[in-house]
Amino acid sequence: MQSARALCVVLACFAAAAPPVLAQQPAADASKANFERLCGTCHEPERSTSSRRTREQWLQTVNGMVARGAEGTDAELMGVVEYLTREYGRVNVNLASAEDLARVLGLTPAEAAAIVQARRERGTFEDAAAVARVPGVDAGKLAARNDAMVFGSRVAPSAGRVPVAALTAYNNWPGVNGGPQREGWARPEAMLARNTAAAIQLLYTRKLDNRNRGTNALTPPLVLGNLISYRGFKEMLLLGGSADVVYSIDAALNRVLWTAKLPVQPQAGVAGNSDTCPGGLMGIVMNGSAASGFGAPAGIRRPGVPPPGFAPPVVSKDAVVMGLAGGFGRNGLVVAVGSDGRAYPLSQSNGALVGQPIPFVPASSNVRSVNLFDYTLYATNRPGCGEDAVYALDLASDSKAVVKVTSAGRIHGSAGPAIGNDGTVYAHAGDRIIALTAKTLKERDHFSIPAPASTGMTPLVFQHNGKDIVVAGAGSEVYLLDSGALGGQDHSTPFARARVEGAVRAAFAGWEDPETRSRWIYVPVSGADSTSGGIAAFTLEERDGRLTLVPRWTSRGMVAPAAPVIANGLVFALSTGGKNNAKLSVLDAASGKELFTSRDSVTGAANADTGLAVANGQVYFSTQDNTVYCFGIPTEH
Ligand code: HEC
Repeated sequence: MQSARALCVVLACFAAAAPPVLAQQPAADASKANFERLCGTCHEPERSTSSRRTREQWLQTVNGMVARGAEGTDAELMGVVEYLTREYGRVNVNLASAEDLARVLGLTPAEAAAIVQARRERGTFEDAAAVARVPGVDAGKLAARNDAMVFGSRVAPSAGRVPVAALTAYNNWPGVNGGPQREGWARPEAMLARNTAAAIQLLYTRKLDNRNRGTNALTPPLVLGNLISYRGFKEMLLLGGSADVVYSIDAALNRVLWTAKLPVQPQAGVAGNSDTCPGGLMGIVMNGSAASGFGAPAGIRRPGVPPPGFAPPVVSKDAVVMGLAGGFGRNGLVVAVGSDGRAYPLSQSNGALVGQPIPFVPASSNVRSVNLFDYTLYATNRPGCGEDAVYALDLASDSKAVVKVTSAGRIHGSAGPAIGNDGTVYAHAGDRIIALTAKTLKERDHFSIPAPASTGMTPLVFQHNGKDIVVAGAGSEVYLLDSGALGGQDHSTPFARARVEGAVRAAFAGWEDPETRSRWIYVPVSGADSTSGGIAAFTLEERDGRLTLVPRWTSRGMVAPAAPVIANGLVFALSTGGKNNAKLSVLDAASGKELFTSRDSVTGAANADTGLAVANGQVYFSTQDNTVYCFGIPTEH
């Protein structure tokens, strides 16, 4: 049988034969008129309302239609999104904000707030009847929207309710640590949550026929939520193998969809087979992150038009052909950097090379993760082989000229450079955090680390009050930096600093809890012995008008933990294992309490610089013996 997810999407698409199953009639208003006018030109508007979707999904659908030629101003199209969310919305009652509950269930703000309050006090709701019992909520209104509610647990379709899988059709994990800002936050995840953590289990493993190069085996996985294939929609897992092979796996069914062997140029006399300098494929990244940084964009996105806040790039014709400038809903590219240092644009549909390989970094560099933002590829070479440097390649330019900055020292971190929301490139180089201009890599600013150390991390960038904040780590210290003036006037005064026990490593993760509005930052830390490593959690707090980092909890028992990943109040942490086997832990993001552990089900160590991917109810990572592990919540396949 098809996966429940795929089935849902396919039904939505081909439901013309089946009558719409929705309860209430849409209210007549201006946005309804817009909907009928703008969405009725290519197919009957009813075609689009045969399934309920979340606001995020409606936004993606509308953006997909814009990519296919749907017309309308941004305001009109956003009106259509709001209209569809209101009339044909879907909401996870156990996860949604009061705002979304009010919007989708037609409740007053007070009624929605009462539901959130009750949820906080009594725990999650089992079903619609439990929600209807919340004092102050009009049960009649809820009854009218019964089928709009899901509850974030495994619910058999036969029980008359929609499984949560139906919420998660499209989400991507387009780059290492989730995307350009290296936030490690699966924002649109609607299935993995505190109340479903108990259902997590090992879903499958798959051993790939890759050949290791020293410690280099497989790249951290990427996920494409919605590959359009001739057999319907597929959720696709992508990994790069050190032997210059890219693997595409059906993420639901654990079948190889395609493999692509890169036609790399043989390199004479180039080092590349030691631990520090393993050589082999250097990284993969896919488009879909270029638009917004992560997952769905916040507004209407038009093909070839950059997100707001950017100078319009000159998009060369072949970039459009390559699909980089495309919108959602159409297959795009995965770009792989081969052992010869060239960037290979591959079609997500079948792995075929699109155009020519483009020279990017020196052969056998120690680049372990590439970043893609605003049509531009970024990478940092790490110590061990060749020059310490930051590289940029504007794929949308005609010249495809590589810009290179040789850094002032060793580059730190497992996830390469991080890119700010305005395109600024941040890297930890030697004793400094450097900020470089987008595409041209001119040094804009720097922060001199007050307590220089031999360990460091890939920086993290997040928005706070409309402004980018940069988080950096070195040795046992974590620094909070203002993107407007890194380290203030003397370049060495952070907004805030905090200490961890042990040495920071890899890369951060961060998220904002929508319920408490707290901003959290998680730091992987190596300990003095093999079990004292773990994750240190902080919140960002404003005290007397100043931002501070407040330590909240520390978990232990991990060896060289990888950069963690966040989804809905869960922290996914991977002990990479060193000489032992890797172990996955799922922790409560607010308390650090362990909710799940893979115990001894992982039978190999992971690369110390590897990463996790989370999308659509599943979490993925790989071990050094070329095995892919998928944990998650089982759904019907
Ligand atoms: C320029 C033509 C065009 C316009 C205008 C258009 N669509 Fe579509 N739509 C298509 C095509 C072609 C398909 C089928 C191919 C596919 O599924 O990608 C489709 C399929 C769909 C589907 C089923 C596939 C899916 O994503 O689940 C939905 C829903 C949908 N459209 C919604 C809308 C909405 C909402 C609007 C108004 C904003 C709209 N369409 C306007 C061309 C259009």
